[in-house]
Amino acid sequence: MLVLEAVKQYACAKINLYLHILGKRPDGYHELETLMALISVRDTLDIELIHSGIEFTCSDPALSDAKDNLATKAARLFLDAFKLETGVRIHLEKKIPVGAGLGGGSSDAGTVLRSLNMLTKIHCPNEKLIELAARLGSDVPFFILMHGPTAICRGRGEIMEAIELTHELQGVLVHPGFGVSTPWAYKTYAQNPQPGETGRAFAGFTLRNDLEPPAFSKYPWLPTVKAWFRKQPEVLDSLMSGSGSSVFALTKTADERGRLLVRFRAEFGETLFAEMFSVGKRIN
Ligand code: C5P
Repeated sequence: MLVLEAVKQYACAKINLYLHILGKRPDGYHELETLMALISVRDTLDIELIHSGIEFTCSDPALSDAKDNLATKAARLFLDAFKLETGVRIHLEKKIPVGAGLGGGSSDAGTVLRSLNMLTKIHCPNEKLIELAARLGSDVPFFILMHGPTAICRGRGEIMEAIELTHELQGVLVHPGFGVSTPWAYKTYAQNPQPGETGRAFAGFTLRNDLEPPAFSKYPWLPTVKAWFRKQPEVLDSLMSGSGSSVFALTKTADERGRLLVRFRAEFGETLFAEMFSVGKRIN
């Protein structure tokens, strides 16, 4: 089929450096204040304009159902919003673990919205793209934000204030191979609302994730890994990201991060997802 326009884009994951739940809202969501940071772990999307229809392929066969995928939902939403007759073909090379609290699906969706805005030459302003993004999920607006890799997100996540961290941090991100359901984590929190453990204060923010208590009570691997990280000499502090199940540890230098990764693999196994990242510098 004739390809009209095409682009290859990276879709970065995020971590939450803090996640405070401020209360339950009448619409069923929770009011948040969370510091989100883009990290270098990323998916790759090939996005093409074609004559008609939405076609989707994915490197992970478990995610190949186009109907369930946020990337194709984003394409459909964009085409409908601007009454476009054209079609879209997406190939997703998946690297960000799923159900990990890393915003992988949200980042893919945000990347599709931004790419289609460019490829179709609609040039809709960021505010409108953010409004479309919020319809797809609470985290998606963050991935529309183009002017910085870190932002404080409020509301249910869609009200963003870009900020700069005072210095760059390095880290190791790990994922146990199982996911945590986000609706389950919020529902369990609501049954017994209590703040997560307050961690170390950095310049301008303190690590804390209020979704840790529900996730930690169901999945003992998570607090075990966090406690192990905190005992390592290189680690400034450690936290679960989002609703889990990934956990990250922050270090000051890239050398420390490298040593930590080697020790993590020796302790917890070579096959687990474990990646180095940096936070606080522009990624794309
Ligand atoms: O917006 P999203 O679809 O990502 O949210 C998934 C679920 O997580 C929601 O259905 C809701 O149960 C919960 N959630 C919440 N408060 C938020 C974000 C998500 O309760 N701010």
